[in-house]
Amino acid sequence: SINVNDPGLITLVNKLQDVFATVGVQPNIDLPQIAVVGSQSSGKSSVLENIVGRDFLPRGTGIVTRRPLVLQLINRPAAKANGVKEEIDTSGDSAANVEEWGEFGHIPGQKFYDFNKIRDEIVKDTELKTGRNAGISSAPITLKIFSPNVLTLTLVDLPGLTKVPVGDQPKDIERQIKNMVLQHIQKANSIILAVTAANTDLANSDGLKLAREVDPEGQRTIGVLTKIDLMDDGTDVVDILAGRIIPLRLGYVPVVNRGQRDIDNKKQISAALEHERNFFENHRAYRNKHAYCGTPYLARKLNMILMMHIKQTLPEIKARIQSSLTKYSMELASLGDSMLGSPANIVLNFITEFANDYRTLLEGNSQEISSTEL
Ligand code: GDP
Ligand code: NA
Ligand code: MG
Repeated sequence: SINVNDPGLITLVNKLQDVFATVGVQPNIDLPQIAVVGSQSSGKSSVLENIVGRDFLPRGTGIVTRRPLVLQLINRPAAKANGVKEEIDTSGDSAANVEEWGEFGHIPGQKFYDFNKIRDEIVKDTELKTGRNAGISSAPITLKIFSPNVLTLTLVDLPGLTKVPVGDQPKDIERQIKNMVLQHIQKANSIILAVTAANTDLANSDGLKLAREVDPEGQRTIGVLTKIDLMDDGTDVVDILAGRIIPLRLGYVPVVNRGQRDIDNKKQISAALEHERNFFENHRAYRNKHAYCGTPYLARKLNMILMMHIKQTLPEIKARIQSSLTKYSMELASLGDSMLGSPANIVLNFITEFANDYRTLLEGNSQEISSTEL
């Protein structure tokens, strides 16, 4: 499946975690959290779901996300059979899979293997805290997803920005949601996906406005343009992508998510991604740049940012390994042992291997940096 959890990156991070375990230091690769911000029904939940590559978030017209959902993806190696990792199919939307499950903060110990039941529980617990009549709450729902196919990383789904209270919403709904969102995106360690529906005016984008408040230089904001398929005939987002409307350092990615009818018909993610690819490849305005459009490109961009983050934390990681090495070497020397096959040697090999893997991954992704500006 196509998602932010690129296998290369997962392997790399796992190796880092392993070596930390080998030398007995705490793993400390604090990957950025990814949070969505944008108007109600702009497609935030849809974008997050596509990034994860699984169906489990409530989506739909009106205010569906009414509490923050803090989604912690946790990498957990697959059980090994005869030393060979089993291939795991993540395309089935509700395929029960013993290697992959969810656990809610409010129901400790209960494992959800069916991702449809995860969605039902999100809806149920939202209603429990906010009622059924459009009420909101800043009390987050926390959900952990354990899987061999994910990077250990946090994603945050947030209620959409809105101005006019409906139902049980407070009079100051605009301010309340704004504060709720700010709380999650102000951390310097978060990546902001500023989602704007392409059939609305970019200059009025609530998502971009709020992102700019906490990230004025645009260092960690990616513009995501949804509903490209719903734009009027003859209009497109080419000028936005080229940075001629509101430039963003990290640029914009246009996507096509599932529409309401697709949701009602339970269209699978795999089919939706296929449709998205065909859309961009065949569209007059995008076909010459289709490689920079769509969910897979957005996922690669996020990957690139995560790689950069790892690169920035590498000096510290190296220093920690170095000091452990020194310690081990001294211990071994005092035992008069040969260094071959020693933990120190394992670590040395790892560093070399890591440097190679890292270079390969970075080279594979480096094209993306230069093509951010279309
Ligand atoms: P949120 O409120 O921002 O989380 O938005 P949702 O993800 O819940 O989507 C709101 C509605 O817009 C749903 O009915 C989605 O099916 C629809 N939607 C989202 N993205 C797209 C898109 O790219 N194309 C189309 N046609 N519909 C979309
Ligand atoms: Na919605
Ligand atoms: Mg939502």
